[in-house]
Amino acid sequence: MRSATIKELLSSKDLLQEITIKGWVRTFRSNRFIALNDGSTLNTIQCVVDFEKFDEDVLKKVNTGAALKITGTLVESQGRGQSVEIQVSNLEVLGIADPEEYPIQPKKHSLEFLREKAHLRIRTNTFAAIMRVRSTLSFAIHNYFRENGFNYFHAPIITGSDAEGAGEMFRVTTLDEKNPPLNEDGSVNYKEDFFGKETNLTVSGQLEAEAYAMALGKVYTFGPTFRAENSNTSRHLAEFWMIEPEMAFFDLDANMDLAEDFIKNVITYTLTHCQEDLEFLEKRLFDEEKSKPQAQRSDMPLIEKLKFVVDNNFKRVSYTEAIEILKNCKPNKKKQFKYPIKEWGTDLQSEHERFLVEKHFKCPVILFDYPAKIKAFYMRLNEDGKTVRAMDILFPGIGEIVGGSQREERLDILKQKIKDLGIDEKELWWYLDLRKFGTAEHSGFGLGFERLVLFATGMGNIRDVIPFPRTPQNAEF
Ligand code: 4AD
Ligand code: MG
Repeated sequence: MRSATIKELLSSKDLLQEITIKGWVRTFRSNRFIALNDGSTLNTIQCVVDFEKFDEDVLKKVNTGAALKITGTLVESQGRGQSVEIQVSNLEVLGIADPEEYPIQPKKHSLEFLREKAHLRIRTNTFAAIMRVRSTLSFAIHNYFRENGFNYFHAPIITGSDAEGAGEMFRVTTLDEKNPPLNEDGSVNYKEDFFGKETNLTVSGQLEAEAYAMALGKVYTFGPTFRAENSNTSRHLAEFWMIEPEMAFFDLDANMDLAEDFIKNVITYTLTHCQEDLEFLEKRLFDEEKSKPQAQRSDMPLIEKLKFVVDNNFKRVSYTEAIEILKNCKPNKKKQFKYPIKEWGTDLQSEHERFLVEKHFKCPVILFDYPAKIKAFYMRLNEDGKTVRAMDILFPGIGEIVGGSQREERLDILKQKIKDLGIDEKELWWYLDLRKFGTAEHSGFGLGFERLVLFATGMGNIRDVIPFPRTPQNAEF
C-alpha cells in the first residue's frame, strides 16, 4: 500500500490502486464527501465515504481541521472539477478539531482576524499559497546565485558595528537592566557585558559581505536582519529577511544590471513553478478589489503584472532628473504631495517614489546618484563631490524594494567621510583594512525579501507574507 501526497494523486493516471493518505479536513458534506488537504497543493482531494459502513461516532469527529488517515481506492471522479477521487475503505481520525473552538471554519475570514491566529492561518488557502510562493522564491534566489558563480556567505546576527548608521538597533546584552555595572562617571560599563562591548542585532550583513567579496569575488547573504524603527506601516517589519549580494570588480552599472536580471529571473522561476498558487492569489485579489473604488484598484491582474516586470526594462533615472520631475508635477488635480519637493537634496518620501513608478514612468524604476548627505557613509563619492553612487529600485505598489551602491574603495576618502559623520574610526578598523590591503572597485545591494514576496503575491500588508511577523507591540508567537 502506497503513501502519497495529494499533489501526486491528483495528477496520477494509476487508477484502482489502493493508497493511504494523511491530511486535514477542509469540509465534510452530506456525511459523504470529505475534502482533504495535506499542504502539498492548493487543491483538496475528494474522499467519498459510504456512511453506512462507518461508525457514527467516528464520522462525528470528521470536522473541519481534523487530521485523518484514509485508506481507499483511487478512482475516476464522477463529480465536476476533479479528475480523481478516493473511495474510502478505512478512515482513522488522528486528531480532532472541535468546531466549537477551532477558529478556521470554512467561511471567509478577514486578514486582520487571521493575523491574530498566525499559528493557524497557514491552514487557509490564501496563507498556504503565499507561503509556498515564499518558499519557491527563496529556492529561486539560491539557485540564481549558484548558477551565476556566487558563494553563499553567512553574516553574523550579533554585531558590534552599525552598517547603516540609520534606524534604531536592537541591543543585545546580558547585563542586569535594573542594576547594570557602572563606570566612575555613571555610564554603563559594557566591558562587563558578555562580549565586553555594546552589541546589537544586525541591520545588514553588508559590511561583512564586503570582506568576503574581497576574497571570494562574488558572494551573497540571505538571512534575517533587524530594525527597531517604530514605523507601523504595511511595508516595515522589525525582523525581515534580506538578500545581499556583494561583488568585487563591479561598478554601479554592473550592479544595476545584476539586480534587474536577478529580480526578473526569480519572478520568472516563480511564474513557472507556482502557477496554481498565483492563479488563486490573483483571483483573491480580484475579489478583494471589487469592493474598492475604481481609482484604488490595480490596473493589471497579478500574473500580467509579474510578466510585465519580467518583459520590460527597468527605467534608470538619476536622483537629479527625478527631482526635476517631482518639482514640476501635479501628482493629482486637487492634491499636492504631503511633502512637496522644494529643493535638490531632500530625501524622497514613499509618496514621491510611488508617483514616479505608478503614475509617471509606469514601470519599475532604478534611481541612482543620490545626494551624499542622505545616504550611508560607505557609498562611493562621485566626481561632483556631492552625489554618491547609490541606487534604489522602486516597484509599483511597493515603493523601495532594493537599496544598493558602489562602495567607497579609496581609503583616504572613506576615512574623511567617517570623520565628517562623527563615527569613531576605531569601530571600523577591520572595514578600513579592506581598503588598505588589495582594495578594488566593488558593489552590492540589499533586496528586502518580504517586499519581493508582497509583490509576487499581490498582498497588501507585509505582515501577511512572513510566517510570524515582528512589528511594534507584536511578538506573540
Ligand atoms: O536600503 P537598505 O536599508 O539597505 C541596506 O541595508 C544596505 N546595507 C543593503 C546593501 O547594500 N547590502 O535596505 C535594503 C532593503 C530595502 O530596499 C527594503 O526592501 C528592505 O531592505 N527593508 C525592509 N524590509 C522590511 N522591513 C523593514 N523595516 C525594512 N528596511 C529595509
Ligand atoms: Mg534604503
